[in-house]
This record gives sequence, structure tokens and C-alpha cells, in this order.
Amino acid sequence: MKFSQRGSHMMTTSGLRSIMADVATTRSAGERWLNLGVGNPAFIPEVGAMWHDLAQQTLDFDFATESAGYGPSRGNARLIDVIVDYFAKTYGWNLTPHNVVVGPGSQMLCFIAAALFAGPGDDSMRRLVLPCVPDYAGYLGMSMDSGGAEGFAPRVQPVGRHRFHYLLDRDALRDSADIGLLLVSSPSNPTGRSLDEDEMGCLVATADANDAVLVVDNAYGQPFPRVARTSAPPLWHPAVINCFSVSKAGLPGERLGFAVGAPEQISAMVAVIANSALHAPHFPQLILARALETGRLDELATAVVQPYYAARRRNAEDLLHEYLPDDLNWRLHTGDGGMFCWLWIDEPWFDDAKMYARLKERRVVAVPGRHFFPDPDGVGRHATQCLRLSITADEATVREGIRVVADTLVSLAGRRA
Ligand SMILES: Cc1ncc(COP(=O)(O)O)c(C=O)c1O
Repeated sequence: MKFSQRGSHMMTTSGLRSIMADVATTRSAGERWLNLGVGNPAFIPEVGAMWHDLAQQTLDFDFATESAGYGPSRGNARLIDVIVDYFAKTYGWNLTPHNVVVGPGSQMLCFIAAALFAGPGDDSMRRLVLPCVPDYAGYLGMSMDSGGAEGFAPRVQPVGRHRFHYLLDRDALRDSADIGLLLVSSPSNPTGRSLDEDEMGCLVATADANDAVLVVDNAYGQPFPRVARTSAPPLWHPAVINCFSVSKAGLPGERLGFAVGAPEQISAMVAVIANSALHAPHFPQLILARALETGRLDELATAVVQPYYAARRRNAEDLLHEYLPDDLNWRLHTGDGGMFCWLWIDEPWFDDAKMYARLKERRVVAVPGRHFFPDPDGVGRHATQCLRLSITADEATVREGIRVVADTLVSLAGRRA
């Protein structure tokens, strides 16, 4: 059997696949893991109850008519109309159905954008650039061509004793050429960092200068699920495609997201969905239509989800300070909250892959930092000195997991606890 070049390339991209393999391992029956690895949202009872109720209504009123037939590749017409109204009410955007496409998750929507706007062009290679590295591990497998996603070396700013922050590399952006697609999560997975208006303006200017598209992945931010704080609302601009997902609002298993952008970009995305998946599943689309038109998702995002994650984050920060030795050079990305703690262990002996392996021996899963850098070997030691901890498990699991992380760090440092 022979694979195509693309086939071989797709099989080598490993960060997200390794995270998905951990999802499978930690869900195996009879296994007990302290899971600080995967990006599942927390189960919040009020949110679960809302989805259950809306799913029941959808089953009662729409299942027979909608789920029994194929539908438009752009998305269910009722959901599209609801999305158009929702963005008019929420942000004053003047959309029509031509600005919207629904897909089976925002991972797929970003993948489609990468296929459309990055790769070999008429006269040059259109580059897929991640302007805010480290960024979501799922972006690294998005290019179907070798070369793949690129990023700039991170610009690290230490803050106080145990904090740090990444700065946007405006010079690198200004000097870049041949960009086809800029792709960024804001608020970011893994750092929680949310771009402000000025930073977003810099990305838009870079996209304009390259005749490129900027995809902003709002999976954690506004208008829902509000898992992390945002510095600015989503930006409407002809060069920008905004992606939204219901996953972190509590429905990751139903695979649903949508994108909003200029009609010519969106109609190209609709074409790829038609060719690859026909359309997104109807059942969750109609659940989402109900959640948006009744305002229930917005209410819960603001009144429940946002405070819930803010409290979890404070708790995780307290635990890090409680368990990690003060004289060890660990730093937490300042961020704006979110589902993760992004740690930088600025010590010469620390290696994220070794740490990951040691933690797994103790049945704790965390994600090695290198999975969030397109070229971990090309950016110096930093990419292998980071670790992502998810804080969505129950409090006892997060406490015990962070205790084991601290204990493992102490033993890797060759010190006594
Ligand atoms: C930034 C970001 N974008 C997209 C996704 C995937 O979203 P979806 O489930 O809608 O495909 C994730 C999942 O972890 C993510 O962190």
C-alpha cells in the first residue's frame, strides 16, 4: 500500500493525536486516572440541565422532520436565521445568511479554512501562520502540505516571582510575507491570553497586507461560553472569519460550531463541507437554535459559566502556590482565566516529555508544552519547559493531580520533598 504525500504528512502530525489517545486511555473502563490532560469542559449541572431540556424539546418537536432528512450544507435554515438575529442583537452586526456556515465543530471549520487559504498558491506558497505561539495543539495538524503551520519564537515577559506573559511579536508580523492564513485562539488554549483591540488590529493589518484571511477562534470567549475573560468582543472585518463552538459550553460530544465572515469566504467553506461531510448534524443544530433564540445560553454563560471557571482558576492557582516549592523557578501564564494552567518550569533539568512520562507512571495525565509549538526544536528550550494542566476535573482530582505534579517536579530536580 502506498500513501500519498498528503496522507503520509497527515499521519505524522502528532500533538493532537497524542491528546486524543489520552482521551481514549482515560475513558477506558476500569482505569482510574487523575486527568489534567484533555480539554473537556467541566460538567456544570445547570448547563447540563439546559442542554437536556433543549434536547428533549428538539426530540419532541423536530426529530421526525429534521433528523430523518438531509439538509443544506451551509447549515439548518432555522439555525442560520437565529444566528443572524443573535449577532444583530448582541453586537449590532448586519449579517445575512450568506455570512454564516455551520460545521461539525470549530476544529473542522478551522481545518477547512486552512485547506482553502493556505498551501501552494498560483505563484507562491501561501503560509499558515500562528501569530501567538504557543497556541492550540489542534492547529498543528491543519496543513495538509508538508511545511505545515509556522509560528514565531515566543516573546516571554517574566512578571513577578511566579508569573509570566507572552508578548505579540509585532516586528515579525510586519516583516512576514506570503501569509495565506493567520490562525489564532483568543482567549487562547493553552494560555488563557485574550487579545486586546490593538493586538487584534495588528493581526488584521498583517492579514490585509498579505491579502490573507485571519481566523479568530472564539472557542472559550464571547459571546459564549465565557470560559475565559475577553479583552474585546469579536471583531467584524472583511478579512476576518470568526469561529464559534458549543463544545466548551458543554456539548463537545455533539460536534457543532459555526463560522461568520465575508460571503465569498463563507461560500467557499460551504463548498468544502458539501464535498467532505454534506452538512453538520441536524439534531445539535436545532438544540443550539433554541439555546440562542431563548437567550438561555447567554444567561448561563454570564451567570454560571464565567463565575464557575473564575473560581476554579483561583482554586488551581492557590493549589500551585501551596504545593510547588517557592524556590523552584516555576511560572504561571497570567492569562484571563480559562480551562487551563500553563506552566513554565524555567529550570535546566526540566523536560516536558520526561515529565509527561513520569506523571503517566503515577496515573496523572497532563499535556507536554511542545504540542503547542509548531517548531518546538526551533524556539530554544522554552517549548520543552512548559506543561498544560486542565482544571476542569472535580476539585479533589485537581488537588491530588497538582500535588503529584509538584512531587514529580521535586523528584526530577533531584531534591527531597
Ligand atoms: C482553541 C480551540 N479551538 C477549537 C477546539 C475544538 O473545538 P470543537 O470541539 O468545536 O471542534 C478546541 C478544543 O479543545 C480548542 O481548544
